[in-house]
This record gives sequence, structure tokens and C-alpha cells, in this order.
Amino acid sequence: MLTNDQLSAWDRENFFHPSTHLGAHARGETPTRVITGGDGVYITDRDGKRMLDAFAGLYCVNVGYGRQEIAEAIAEQARELSYYHSYVGHGTEASITLSKMIMDRAPKGMSKVYFGLGGSDANETNVKLIWYYNNILGRPEKKKIISRWRGYHGSGLMTGSLTGLKLFHNKFDLPLAQVLHTEAPYYYRRDDLNLSEEQFTAHCVAELEALIEREGADTIAAFIGEPALGTGGLVPPPAGYWDAIQAVLQKHDILLVADEVVTGFGRLGTMFGSDHYGMRPDLITIAKGLTSAYAPLSGSIVSDRMWSVLMQGTDENGPIGHGWTYSAHPIGAAAGIANLKLIDELDLVANAGSTGAYFTGALKDALGDHAKVGEVRGEGLMAAVELVADRDSRTYFDASEKAGARVVAALLEQGVIARAMPEGDIIGFAPPLCITREEADIVVGKMVKAMDAVFK
Ligand SMILES: Cc1ncc(COP(=O)(O)O)c(C=O)c1O
Repeated sequence: MLTNDQLSAWDRENFFHPSTHLGAHARGETPTRVITGGDGVYITDRDGKRMLDAFAGLYCVNVGYGRQEIAEAIAEQARELSYYHSYVGHGTEASITLSKMIMDRAPKGMSKVYFGLGGSDANETNVKLIWYYNNILGRPEKKKIISRWRGYHGSGLMTGSLTGLKLFHNKFDLPLAQVLHTEAPYYYRRDDLNLSEEQFTAHCVAELEALIEREGADTIAAFIGEPALGTGGLVPPPAGYWDAIQAVLQKHDILLVADEVVTGFGRLGTMFGSDHYGMRPDLITIAKGLTSAYAPLSGSIVSDRMWSVLMQGTDENGPIGHGWTYSAHPIGAAAGIANLKLIDELDLVANAGSTGAYFTGALKDALGDHAKVGEVRGEGLMAAVELVADRDSRTYFDASEKAGARVVAALLEQGVIARAMPEGDIIGFAPPLCITREEADIVVGKMVKAMDAVFK
């Protein structure tokens, strides 16, 4: 077996890691972390350290680690038929069955699912389908897409542009011109603290309307949003937000994309975040929870309304010129089927709702009054503790203090993994949906200790 030192050297010499400080890592200033195993909510590294993963990888291992049912399904599929493509009407038993299982669970008004590999490519597909749709309808000018600041929609050219976090734009010449950003639905960080939640919702809507007015509704094709902001800070929307936003979109004939890469398949305590907030999207992006990351697979779920125009498009123009080699990969599809069955059998959607409420409540009880905590918030099994230098003025810590990263490091010392979110000092929690109350208590107890260690 290779030694840790050997692996670490090979890693630094050969491996270009995503979302990593490249220089610091290559110079050996940050550790190489080699993960070797996982069971339930725990993962183990090469040193034998066992850690409670309260972020489920990248909020994707929803059924938990080590599920033999999914491993068996993948192995069986690989033995029987490891690959065939899905172009020109081809499919496999796995991919066709999974498409039915997805559509059986999808919100009302949805028609078909197009399979991809990850959330970014699914959102790239969405943008192309939106442009195609408006071209078929004879509206070639209606192409811009509105996203929100603090939204996260991927790292591609269009999806990195849609993402509303500076880190994903800086030095990449993004965002591209067709993308516009509007106010983040982030009540805690509103400019005017006198606004009620409802008034803040009205403010977000007014900002959207002003943007549409400035640009012209006939140039705007779609609005994309996560039902609750994820990577931007795990922020549930203010009261009445989606109803009010949808009324504006409807008025201007603007499509709605619900990016459910994080919220799809149970995280908020409902099968989809769209169900949770009464969203009626034209497209839904799915990925992570579709296979619980046992294999890469994503999807764009297309509404009845869009589907009929797409069909008209191919009647007029021939086959749709959009496809990935690995669309509907049978191994991903086999993982998806076994995963969705497990979610049902273990009643994980309900557990996300009830244990999620318990977890956020326990975090609030333990840390809600802490001098360095501005807000504890959550919905289902997504929760955040937002750190502030000063509670009353909501002042951010100076970035050089790395407050969020230090708390996450202290928590890791205690054997619990959380995520320092990229903008602000926000500690994110999104554990596997199978987490129990006892495990949630461990996370909260260790978080209190980590806060004590950092802020004495
Ligand atoms: C809401 C949302 N959309 C899209 C993506 C991009 O997915 P991927 O990293 O699989 O490309 C993510 C990833 O975290 C996400 O959270």
C-alpha cells in the first residue's frame, strides 16, 4: 500500500484540484486529505480518523455512505451493460425506468427529463433549451437570463455567469453579456433593517421589475433561482417571495427555472423545493440527490408548456442538436433507481423535514444568543450559522481573520465536517437525509465547542 507521504507528493505534483488555492496546495501549505471509506453519516480518512460529515460531501450523499443496495445495482448494471448511448431514441431498462420514477415524483405540469452528468451541464442544457424555445416562438431577441446575486448554478461559461458569487467570475471574464443579476432574497442582510419580511419581499420584487423595465421584457427569456439559496449562504427566501416573483414573471412571459440540484429529492422535507414554496417552474434542474452521488447523473425536467414548443421545433427543423456522450449513462441510472427506492423505503423526505426542524432548533437554542452569531437559519436539512464581528451592527469579520474557516477547522478537530461558505463567514450544514436526532445533537455539541475554541 502507498504511504501517506507518497500519495501526498503525487497529489501535489499531478492533481489540479477544483476550488483550491493552487499555490498553497502545490507548496504543501494545505494538507492532502485522502478519504478512504464511509458508512451512514460518517467518513474515514487514511489516518483512520472518523468524521461525521454534516455536509454530505457537497450536499449530495443524501442517503448516506456505504449503501450496499446502490453499490450492488451499479455492479450488476456494469456487468450486464456498462454503456450504451441515448441518442436517436436509444435507451436502457435503467434509464427508461429512472425517467418514469423521476416524472412520477416531479411537480405538476412537468413533461420529460433530459439526462446529463452534473448540475452545471444540466443548467447549460436549460439555457440552450430556453434559447431554442424562444427562437421557435419567433422571439429571437428574448434571450437574457436573470439570476440572483448569491445564487449558485454551476461553474461552466453560462452557469458560472448565472452564479452570483464574485469568486466564480473574477479573472474568468464572466459574467457573459446575456446574464443579469438581481437582488439576493437575503433578509438578514437587507440594507434597510426596518423592513419586515413582507416588505423586503416587495423590495426584491420592485428590484426585479425595475431591471425588467430597464432591459425590456421582450429581451428577457428566463429567471433562474434555487428554491432556497445554497452555496450563497443557505438562505431560505423571505415570506411570500416565490408567489410574488412568479406573478411578475408571468406578467412578462418570462420562464422560471427552479435549480433544485441541492433541494431536489427531499432536502427541504418535500420531494422538491418547488413543492415546498409553491413554485410552478418551466424547467427543474436536478443532480446531486438523484443518485446521492453514488454515480454522476443530472437532469433537466421540462414542462408540458416547453415540451410542446420543443416538439414543434424538431418538426420544423429536424432533430435537436444537443447531446452528451454520457447522457442517461446506465450506471448512473442504475444508481438513481436504487437511490430513489431507498429514499422511499427509509422515508428520508419526512426525516429531512422533522430531523431538520429539530437540528435547526437545537442550533438556535445552543448558539442563537452567542455574541459572534448574527443568525441561525435553516429549512429542512439545510442550516447555517452566520458569524459576525458585532451582533448589533451585523458587521462582517475582516476577511483576513478567516473566522468561518477557523470555526470549520476547529469543528473538524472535533470530528465533524461543516462547510465555510464562499462569501461571508457562514458555517453551512447539510447532512445526509438519514441523520438521526442523536447524530444531530453531536453536531450541535461539537459546534458549540468549536465556537468556544475560536472565540474563547
Ligand atoms: C444549486 C446548484 N446548481 C448547480 C450546481 C452545479 O452542479 P455541479 O457541481 O454538479 O456541476 C450546484 C453545485 O453545488 C448547485 O448547488
